[in-house]
Amino acid sequence: MSAGNHTVDEIKSRCNIVDVIGRVVSLKKAGSNYKGRCPFHNEKTPSFVVSETKQIFTCFGCGATGDVIGFVQQYYQLDFMQAIEKLADEYGITIQKGFRKNENKEEAYTINREAAKFFFRAFRKKENPGYRYMKGREIAPETLNKFGIGYADETWSSLYEYLTGLGFKQEKLLELGLISQSKGKYYDKFRSRVMFPIINTSGKIIGFGGRIIGDGSPKYLNSQESSVFLKKNNLYGLNITRQEIHKEDRAILVEGYMDVISLYQSGVRNVSASLGTALTENQARLLKRYTENIILSYDADEAGIKAALRGLDILHSEHCRVKVLHVSDGKDPDEFVKKNGKNAFLKLVEEALPFADYKLSVLRKRFDLTSTQERVDFLKNAAGVLRQLSPVEADIYIKKLAEETKISEGAIRLEVNGNNSEKQVSGGNYVPRKEQEALSDAVTALEKNMIKLILQSSKYYVEILPYEKQVFTTAGGQNIYRGIKELYEENEELDIRRLIDSLDTEDADALQDIMENVRLAHKEEQIFSDCIHTIKRNGLVQREQELIMQLSIADEEDNTEQITALTKELMNIQMMIKNGRG
Ligand code: UTP
Ligand code: MN
Repeated sequence: MSAGNHTVDEIKSRCNIVDVIGRVVSLKKAGSNYKGRCPFHNEKTPSFVVSETKQIFTCFGCGATGDVIGFVQQYYQLDFMQAIEKLADEYGITIQKGFRKNENKEEAYTINREAAKFFFRAFRKKENPGYRYMKGREIAPETLNKFGIGYADETWSSLYEYLTGLGFKQEKLLELGLISQSKGKYYDKFRSRVMFPIINTSGKIIGFGGRIIGDGSPKYLNSQESSVFLKKNNLYGLNITRQEIHKEDRAILVEGYMDVISLYQSGVRNVSASLGTALTENQARLLKRYTENIILSYDADEAGIKAALRGLDILHSEHCRVKVLHVSDGKDPDEFVKKNGKNAFLKLVEEALPFADYKLSVLRKRFDLTSTQERVDFLKNAAGVLRQLSPVEADIYIKKLAEETKISEGAIRLEVNGNNSEKQVSGGNYVPRKEQEALSDAVTALEKNMIKLILQSSKYYVEILPYEKQVFTTAGGQNIYRGIKELYEENEELDIRRLIDSLDTEDADALQDIMENVRLAHKEEQIFSDCIHTIKRNGLVQREQELIMQLSIADEEDNTEQITALTKELMNIQMMIKNGRG
């Protein structure tokens, strides 16, 4: 990127920051700097400072800061390259050849295409383990061609030699994750694998998934993220299936490459898969270009259920109509359709459960509905689901649940609508524990603060131990906490590197986010005691909810003794909440 840096340097030296900002913010000289009213937040007294000597700006009010390119990006809402282009244009600076992202991208696509052709030929040329494997999995030649399936041979450098022979640079191949480097030697990253090219909706090859032949680990090796391969923005197979999805006005979203291929071959052609990660908002939006009706068809295991619950929330918040299909035979759609055929699968599609029904069915299995306490717990969790619905939809489910649990509609409605005081509990809305575990993985603000605190000092770790169950309520929070705990139990000093290495990518990302974005600002003690307060208060609010529910049942059963006891406790608790105790 030396050519590129040249352009950046020239922009920075030619475009004076005072000049650029001065065109849109009225600046006054104050000492050696310039001052003005910050364009990024509302203020009366100027706290926005521009330094001519340092060529940077800072706002002491809102914290915005950066150099001239950063300012143009933030002020005009541009990405880095657009900001460069704008400045270059205004100051008559020529952008170096090869610097424009798009030129870079085009070259990356070309390289990937050449690689795909290379794999494709190897798959078809002569007898090879890749072809044999896919044949064994009953994928027909036409289907293999349609998806551009290839084979990366067992040698260590055939692709490397081929692509460098075509004149492509080693650095580019490294960047695209086609080759690796060790002790100054380059070698092919994909060896002895069936290659699945991943193609975006513009028909460009953005990366590859390589499946091991037979058993082994990792089962799939995927291209690393690069300027052209952004997993969170793409879906597998959509380049081929989007017309069908649009035509049928319905998409079936599966987990695996093989599920897509197998369903497609069977005649179910409106399918796509996320790229080995949990479904993202961007993927949901991408899919929504073609249809709003989405059926999640994930694996039948625990991980698949978790993935479905997450996917449901993401698609629901993008206003899709989403259902979940349960694979009743075999571990995934691929196995099912091979065994039972297209029509049997389409029957499962028709039986797929809508958003709320699916969530409630998952919850139902987690509680013993013959026990009063568990019925209460079930309803409290169910209320969380109904809160995500429109009032009309919620009403329908409230009636169903009242019928099912023999708890009055009124009590359930109260639970769903909540009382307003509880919404103000610091550290986020009050959400019952089990619901969070089951239905959401987003690490809570309380967890984030606590993690940041215990990373900082083992002292907080010791103090939080008795409350760990109340604090760490989401899967992500629990995983990170467990990692920290293991390290602290071994050693008093915490090695962050080791902690990150011990976590899954998703949890490691969440941790990274906490380390970078949670600010304690030397108020550790204050924040810690606020957290403890929140935990205690959450406990009281939770108990209050339970009591209200139990009262509704006691009422129904005319149990005077219970009613008196419960009412007494309820009044006590409400008093404590009101007085801010706990
Ligand atoms: P699956 O294990 O369900 O894969 O993982 P699959 O497509 O059904 O493969 P087969 O049938 O065992 O051959 C689902 C998806 O998760 C990603 C891949 O995108 C895969 O298709 N994955 C899985 C990886 O990226 N790496 C892995 O090691 C495993
Ligand atoms: Mn599979």
